[in-house]
Amino acid sequence: MNWSNRPAWLLPVIASAVCVVIAVIALINATGQAPSGTPTARESGQALIGGDFELVAHTGETVTQADFEGRPMLIYFGFTYCPDICPMSLQVMAQALQQLDENERAQFQPLLISLDPERDTPEALAQYVETPVFPEGLVGLTGSPEQIAGVASAYRVYYARAEADASMADYLIDHSSLIYLMDQQGRFVEVFPHATPPERIAQRLQRFLQEDAA
Ligand code: NI
Repeated sequence: MNWSNRPAWLLPVIASAVCVVIAVIALINATGQAPSGTPTARESGQALIGGDFELVAHTGETVTQADFEGRPMLIYFGFTYCPDICPMSLQVMAQALQQLDENERAQFQPLLISLDPERDTPEALAQYVETPVFPEGLVGLTGSPEQIAGVASAYRVYYARAEADASMADYLIDHSSLIYLMDQQGRFVEVFPHATPPERIAQRLQRFLQEDAA
């Protein structure tokens, strides 16, 4: 196939396919698909996913994980130039939160952590998080390439720079596409692939709050 003559629609299709395949692989790795009887990470109390971070919020402030303690977090890793998967995933997160009642919803802190620190400045993120279909109160986080690499590794997020065609953005980022639910202490609870129906995520969030209150 002559790549210089490929139709313009093909690249986003390939990028999406890569995103989806990576999401599935990442999910299998993250959940471990433990054989029955094997304790999950949460049950055995091991923090296999997540951990402390220091990043820069879309307000320009330096923040650490401690700043979010006390509230369960919904975290998505992505980038503002993403043509399709990231906006779709953030909408799924918003729709799931929308199905909770006001008190339930107010407990969760939605976060977007950029995998493109070069272009995703705090200013760029500040604009992006205001997108009306995204979760209310979404906080965008970016940082130095080292800070982003550190948090991505702690959350076992795969990401890699991919060249795009000159007519589009200069480059894209292939990345895993999962919504992480972390508890009030920043411990891993569950991941949702971005294609999870929002109703199912909402049910899980409600169950999480009930278990937590019990
Ligand atoms: Ni994306």
